[in-house]
Amino acid sequence: MNNLNDLNSLERIKANDPGGMLDALWKMPEQCEEALAIGRKTEIPSKYGSVSNIVVTGLGGSAIGGDFLRLYVTDKAGIPVIVNRDYNLPAFVDSKTLLFAVSYSGNTEETLSAYAQAREKGARIVALTNGGKLRQLAEGDGYPVIVVPAGISPRAATGYLLIPTLAVLEKLGLISGLAVELEELTRILRSLREQMQPEAPVEQNTAKQIAARFYGKIPVIWGVGGSTEVVAMRWKGQVNENGKAPAYWNIFPELNHNEIVGFEEPTALLGQLEIVLLRDTDDHPRVQKRMDISKDIIKGVVSGITEVRSQGEGRLSRLFSLTYIGDYVSVYLAALYGIDPTPVRNIDYLKQKLAES
Ligand code: PA5
Repeated sequence: MNNLNDLNSLERIKANDPGGMLDALWKMPEQCEEALAIGRKTEIPSKYGSVSNIVVTGLGGSAIGGDFLRLYVTDKAGIPVIVNRDYNLPAFVDSKTLLFAVSYSGNTEETLSAYAQAREKGARIVALTNGGKLRQLAEGDGYPVIVVPAGISPRAATGYLLIPTLAVLEKLGLISGLAVELEELTRILRSLREQMQPEAPVEQNTAKQIAARFYGKIPVIWGVGGSTEVVAMRWKGQVNENGKAPAYWNIFPELNHNEIVGFEEPTALLGQLEIVLLRDTDDHPRVQKRMDISKDIIKGVVSGITEVRSQGEGRLSRLFSLTYIGDYVSVYLAALYGIDPTPVRNIDYLKQKLAES
């Protein structure tokens, strides 16, 4: 599909999505509700009580939930949280660390390596997976294992890969009020999906409109450090994995000290950049000002600038609403390129080659 009018053809959009990415997106509010129930029924040993730090270890679609957790918990719990996307764990991990090992497939080698190190260090481990080696190992080692349903891509399982970890933190008394946050979140997602569903025509569908702007261009997503940074990275990753296209991201205010200078040359390539500004009511007022000035600097140089605003009061709703829009954009971009969003051939190839060696 490469005619923008085709985004109004339901038949063609669906034919382009045999793996059911749109269906998984539609079901995200229900996934979040189910994920809360799954997390709440997880038995957490009492010795997991007072922890001094939290580490989430995982990669790709299984790591992004950790980033949400980090931003959400940083506001609420007085302990540091880091997301580890590596084979090795930081040296500070010890018996006072609560460590979530997250892998949807359960077979990602970096996560299995980090899990083994966490076990050696005596960390309080919780595994979150659909199965694979991680489930086998963690069950064998006697750690709590949260098992989430199979059948979707890890990047379409963000609810499953985030919310149970928050439920565990609530059980441990590190956060509270999760049900209220989730009630707002699912309400907003339900309203957004009505506006962004394939049946909604381009003229009324923000996600289809942004996908049309991305088509044939290089998306550059700008978020804000400590808040929408995670969403910017997620939008970029979704354009890569679902749209099979390049995209880049950066954050304010850092980009005002380097990237913003790079808008003079090469003019032909700069004209191919499609910029997205992710805006949140909670952004520092000086950062909001920086975004406005930056927009002025680059307008007329880049192909276009789109501003997307978060929705809701709670931090979870604000971050997740922006994420949800980007997820839909990436699937419509895949439709425009005539590509099935689900398979990730290059990731599979890498994993296979690494397994052979
Ligand atoms: O979205 C994807 O398919 C990837 O980003 C995977 O999440 C990543 O390769 C890690 O795999 P897993 O989530 O199974 O640990």
